[in-house]
Amino acid sequence: MGYRLAVGFIATIGLATISVSYVVYRRRQKSRGKKLSNNPKWKQVGTVMEISMYPLQSGAPLIIPNAKCDSFGISTRGLRDRCLVLLNAQDEAAFSGTYPSMLAISTEIEDECSLVVRAPGKEPLSLNLSRIAEGKPIKEKQRNGFTMRLIECDEIHHEWFSIVILQRTRGLKLFIVLEPNIQPDIWGDDKSDFNPIMVMNNKSVSDLNQRLVLTPKVHHLQFRGNLLLECNDNVKPYDEDTWSWLKIGDTAKACVLQYRGPCLRCISPNVDIKTCKHSPHFEPLKTLKSYRLVHNSKEPTMGAYYNINREGFIKHNDPVYAIVASK
Ligand SMILES: *[C@@H]1O[C@H](CO)[C@@H](O)[C@H](O)[C@H]1NC(C)=O
Ligand SMILES: *[C@@H]1O[C@H](CO)[C@@H](O)[C@H](O)[C@H]1NC(C)=O
Repeated sequence: MGYRLAVGFIATIGLATISVSYVVYRRRQKSRGKKLSNNPKWKQVGTVMEISMYPLQSGAPLIIPNAKCDSFGISTRGLRDRCLVLLNAQDEAAFSGTYPSMLAISTEIEDECSLVVRAPGKEPLSLNLSRIAEGKPIKEKQRNGFTMRLIECDEIHHEWFSIVILQRTRGLKLFIVLEPNIQPDIWGDDKSDFNPIMVMNNKSVSDLNQRLVLTPKVHHLQFRGNLLLECNDNVKPYDEDTWSWLKIGDTAKACVLQYRGPCLRCISPNVDIKTCKHSPHFEPLKTLKSYRLVHNSKEPTMGAYYNINREGFIKHNDPVYAIVASK
């Protein structure tokens, strides 16, 4: 049972759901677009160019050909986006802005709920999350205003990651992240660790790269998105800021996403994903700050977060339709 058992907790939230539902209702009323109309006027904006997930939070991206999209984000073969996190003794998550070498920790899916983790110069580590979770208690930790539900992995896992990242045998502990016991609508603000889906339009990256004249071009995966869209001529850079709804696929069961907020940027995109080093010129953040402080006076926007409104399966090359927010 293990991991599956834990995943089943969603069905057991009962009372807690009732008590938060009023808050959910209030927030929904305030959010953009409110409710999808019965006869939505979808306009095709492009196609799905790339789907990425980050099985280890702050680790290397994993590009996948298709994914399941549900309220908690994307997953494939029983593995969720950011299903593993490393915490230090203060319960702070290890972060690639602080430890750029984390971006060299890659993951490969081996089987249902199983993956292999690799780091330069180290023996690969196999992680069967079902087996690791078996018989272990769920630990709850407070994080950004709500409760994270975690299962602690074993000593050998803590050691492997501590050696790779800190060059010592202790200091970081590996946890499996379970779905939070809460409705996605009331998850914390933009910096919460539980943002369902980050969407970026390919033209936004191209536009930024045209402005980065003196430094190497930025790779779109430095922004750690989930969906990169290849957009049509009718779409401008940064239009992802303006779509209140997105539909992915053209079947009756297509997945529907609802705009939730801007993705505000800290220093992590300044780490080059090939070299795992910080940009000595503080780019692309410096350039982004010169023209993209559109939602916040300190942190520029690049990409947008979306909640999943209708669950579904998405794949590479699926058509993408949008409804533009009315001003
Ligand atoms: C992972 O562990 C589960 C539960 O112990 C087991 O049923 C499954 O076969 C294992 N998967 C792999 C790939 O070893
Ligand atoms: C976006 O798409 C265009 C056209 O296919 C391509 O030339 C460009 O390299 C892409 N940009 C990124 C960041 O992948």
